Amino acid sequence: MPTWRLVTECGTIPVREGRRVICGKEEVALFNLGADAYLAVENRCPHRQGPLADGIVAGTSVYCPLHSWRINLETGCAISGGEGCVKRYPVKIADGKIYLAFDD
Ligand code: FES
Repeated sequence: MPTWRLVTECGTIPVREGRRVICGKEEVALFNLGADAYLAVENRCPHRQGPLADGIVAGTSVYCPLHSWRINLETGCAISGGEGCVKRYPVKIADGKIYLAFDD
């Protein structure tokens, strides 16, 4: 059963940007896509572990800052550059706060 953990408040991440979130042993890239839409994936590119949180957001995908693989944030899988997927984290918004679900 996943555990919801508070990670930040809405408004702390500008629209179409990502932020690195550390929660226990997990490092997450949390993205604000605008209109209260947030998506979260593991902050390690499936190519060579590039920090996806620092990438360029395009629609519901992000370009890795290292070698520009494009990762679909809804599926966690690469859609250009190569093949591979990263873990996704469910996101919940409540009372202006952002929660992520972690498997314990
Ligand atoms: S590490 Fe992300 S594209 Fe190479």
